[in-house]
Amino acid sequence: MSFVFSKENLLRIETLKKRYPSPKALCLPCLWMAQHQEGYISIDAIDTISEEIGIAPMEIYGVVTFYTMFHLEPQDKLNVQVCKTLSCKLCGSDEILKHLEGKDVKISHVECLGSCGTAPVMQIDDVYYEELNPEKVDEILKSLR
Ligand code: FES
Repeated sequence: MSFVFSKENLLRIETLKKRYPSPKALCLPCLWMAQHQEGYISIDAIDTISEEIGIAPMEIYGVVTFYTMFHLEPQDKLNVQVCKTLSCKLCGSDEILKHLEGKDVKISHVECLGSCGTAPVMQIDDVYYEELNPEKVDEILKSLR
């Protein structure tokens, strides 16, 4: 197993273990830490998380493949997740999607991100970008490169 959590992340995991009543609840925070640390979730990282929190690797793999924000391979492009659900659709997500076409990003259409009041919304990694318009999207992408 070649993936090892950083000392900082191991401390965070120990702190979280005291906060959560079930090890399953630590799965998502551990996956975020692994992805931030390596840029993606490797099979070795899944095995390490499995040992840390006592959940079968296959269960963790199921979580990784369920959520669009986790990656099983290194990403060469920004993963821009654009909400396509009703509030965002009514507030211009189609215009945002059209604007993103042709840009050097990976576009994912996702269901409600839970921020309908600030539609249209997109998510890049674990950060939400809200009340979007094409100009704002360009500023965001420029700031991330
Ligand atoms: S509909 Fe887009 S965040 Fe809820």
